[in-house]
Amino acid sequence: MAAHRALVSASILDCDLASLGRESRRALKAGADRIHLDVMDGHFVPNITFGASVIKRLRRIGRQPFDAHLMISEPSRYVGEFIDAGCDSITFHVEVEEPVEPTLLQIRKAGRLAGLAIKPATPLSALEPYRDLLDIVMVMTVEPGFGGQKFKADAATKIDPAHRVFRDRPGEPPSRREIHVDGGVNRATAEYCGRLGVDVLVVGSVLWEKGVDIEREIRRVKALADAGYRDRRRGEAPSGKRRGGDAQ
Ligand code: DX5
Ligand code: ZN
Repeated sequence: MAAHRALVSASILDCDLASLGRESRRALKAGADRIHLDVMDGHFVPNITFGASVIKRLRRIGRQPFDAHLMISEPSRYVGEFIDAGCDSITFHVEVEEPVEPTLLQIRKAGRLAGLAIKPATPLSALEPYRDLLDIVMVMTVEPGFGGQKFKADAATKIDPAHRVFRDRPGEPPSRREIHVDGGVNRATAEYCGRLGVDVLVVGSVLWEKGVDIEREIRRVKALADAGYRDRRRGEAPSGKRRGGDAQ
């Protein structure tokens, strides 16, 4: 399979949760580069999913990267469990009402990638104080809590300037810095995200719809994002007109 610039992290939020292991393997076999794990506490967001013990058992499927996306009010209280569970990256929300820095430090000290997610209405400036501690910026293009929502193109405009959040850090490879886009990513929006220079596309509900050929879906999303990157390199600005991309 051709190498893609675009990486896909498959969100298993809307898969057949009775077969989490099998569904995760299926996504990876179909070309997903990672598994994106949406942890919700019913408090930070109005939905409850699963926690670290489920992820720990899921870890048995193999060594492929696990990205945890914590939509919980007290990441500091639980972050150790997600480290122990074998998450390769842990991203939580900058909007939490507790100090963020100690949790980022704890994740980095454990050798995992530390990330902050921002809701659609949160400006990038909220990340400024943590620039030196961030490996991942996750730009949310839906309100966190549920899969299957419509992509908010306005929120996506934060993807391009998000690259400037990362400061040069001597001794650290640039591969440790990633911009993720999460919410409503599919064939209709992938090209636009690529043109904005996103590194990792989180793809959720479209993979799990009845009758979908998951391999074809991932291949198309990657190809469209790659086309967006190529336009970006050529200096073509994202336009609203082409934002829809190839929705076939
Ligand atoms: C929403 C989650 C997303 C979600 C994406 O709060 O963070 O990861 O699963 O699903 P889609 O791709 O359906 O928007
Ligand atoms: Zn998510």
